[in-house]
Amino acid sequence: MKTAIIYYSKKGTTQKVAKIISEKLDSKEEMFDLKNKSNLDINSYDRIIIGTPIYAGNSNNKVKKFIASNLNHLLNKEIGLYICGMEKEEEKQREELERAYPKELIDKAKSKQFLGGEFLFENMNFFEKMIIKKIAKTDKSISEINHQNIDRFVQELSL
Ligand SMILES: Cc1cc2nc3c(=O)[nH]c(=O)nc-3n(C[C@H](O)[C@H](O)[C@H](O)COP(=O)(O)O)c2cc1C
Repeated sequence: MKTAIIYYSKKGTTQKVAKIISEKLDSKEEMFDLKNKSNLDINSYDRIIIGTPIYAGNSNNKVKKFIASNLNHLLNKEIGLYICGMEKEEEKQREELERAYPKELIDKAKSKQFLGGEFLFENMNFFEKMIIKKIAKTDKSISEINHQNIDRFVQELSL
């Protein structure tokens, strides 16, 4: 099974998670960062995994555009969907996931998961630091990548 992991990562965490998934999957994977390439040819892949970070409740525009221009094609593939974010409430995590991807793609997905995230102060600009200091009530970087959900994601994809 040939797998493409396609993601956008503003600060590096969604990419980090893509690499962890790739190491855990028992298949041949290629990773594509939509920051560098937006017109991907997904023809030769059997399985497509898509990842996006969530900022202010929303997924990344390049991910949205990639999905919109490949939706019919994607619906014929095996699909895994994940989001990275720091939202703590499960209900809100679910809402973020449902907002991030089209319903028909979510329905088609073998697995869909909220995989946690990181606040990396060293990578933030002045305004981001101000916002996150207020929300997280700290100015220390925090990593809350959800390794349990990553394992669940990989397991469900491998069924
Ligand atoms: C300004 C800002 C806004 C954010 N808004 C949200 C949010 O609405 N929901 C959420 O779950 N995470 C939010 N996050 C957390 C990011 O999703 C998290 O830092 C993620 O790991 C970023 O992934 P990336 O490094 O691949 O860009 C926010 C982070 C920043 C800096």
